[in-house]
Amino acid sequence: MKSIIVTQELSKTYPGGARAVRDVSLAIRPGEIFGLFGPNGAGKSTIVRMLTTLLAPTSGTAVVAGHDVVQEPLAVRGVIGLVTADERSFYGRLSAAQNLAFYAAMQNVPRRQIRERVTAVLDLFGLGHKRDAAAQSLSTGQKQRLNMARALVHDPPILFLDEPTKSMDVQTSDLVKALIREKLVGEQGKTVVFISHELYEMDNFCDRAAILADSRIRAIGTPSELGAMLPRRALYRLVVVSGDAGMAARMTAVPGVESVIEVSRGASAAAFDVALADEGAWLEVMRTVAEGNGRVESYRRVDDESLRRVVAHFSEFTARKIP
Ligand SMILES: Nc1ncnc2c1ncn2[C@@H]1O[C@H](COP(=O)(O)OP(=O)(O)OP(=O)(O)O)[C@@H](O)[C@H]1O
Ligand SMILES: [Mg+2]
Repeated sequence: MKSIIVTQELSKTYPGGARAVRDVSLAIRPGEIFGLFGPNGAGKSTIVRMLTTLLAPTSGTAVVAGHDVVQEPLAVRGVIGLVTADERSFYGRLSAAQNLAFYAAMQNVPRRQIRERVTAVLDLFGLGHKRDAAAQSLSTGQKQRLNMARALVHDPPILFLDEPTKSMDVQTSDLVKALIREKLVGEQGKTVVFISHELYEMDNFCDRAAILADSRIRAIGTPSELGAMLPRRALYRLVVVSGDAGMAARMTAVPGVESVIEVSRGASAAAFDVALADEGAWLEVMRTVAEGNGRVESYRRVDDESLRRVVAHFSEFTARKIP
């Protein structure tokens, strides 16, 4: 299938700054939800700013729906919608519908279609009842939905979402994501580029994702392909009271334990991070603590900090890609 967004060694160095994006090569297919994931400062927004013509690349190329972002910025703007998490600049005293009509006109939506488009996007995002409400009277989450409605008012085939669900409650966020998946992508065949720094956002939503760390792409694949690249491992934070010296060494000796790190030690208790290659080893670890005259005061799984682990893992080697 022909790609709808193609970048080749796209790079950006901000004036006086370090390289924010390095040699990013991506091929995004029409009708897919493509995720860009990575920690704060990884370069996600910078990539999207270049793809949406808000920022000129320092080197490399980007082509969106057949249009080069540098050569044909206006053509690119006609086929994209952009939603960011920033507090948006709506005209506070104008109504939701008036704001949308204004942006529709700016996007060259034919005059006689504006009313219909505005109604369609307001309804799509559950804002029909707020049609005549002043934009400034909307709640943060409602403004964010109005923001999405605005990005779609000219019915662009490609939608860029830079952390669009940030100020939405979980329920609204799930609803909006279901809407994107089922209506915009499923029925209308739009292509969506979705940014998040939360890996859980990717599950059941993105078809494929790129993981960025330190301005570079570290891995590209479907969620399950990315998951399969990680070593299987469970990590526990364990607080042990009293106990003999050498507790860490004892636990390390248990078969199935990958590593034990003492993270802190007080007068009577110590905390350890225990990584298990085999979860079945957990019982044996508990038994070993008791044998060493220790008492487990608390334990919790800490490997739900999954993105940190994924990024740490993928930062260890140069870009590894699944075709
Ligand atoms: N206008 C700017 N001038 C100089 N440096 C910038 C500018 N905007 C971003 N940067 C730098 O570029 C790097 C990438 O920033 P970017 O905003 O693309 O990250 P991000 O992945 O979107 O992060 P976040 O999750 O925090 O939104 C960072 O080191 C940032 O400090
Ligand atoms: Mg960002």
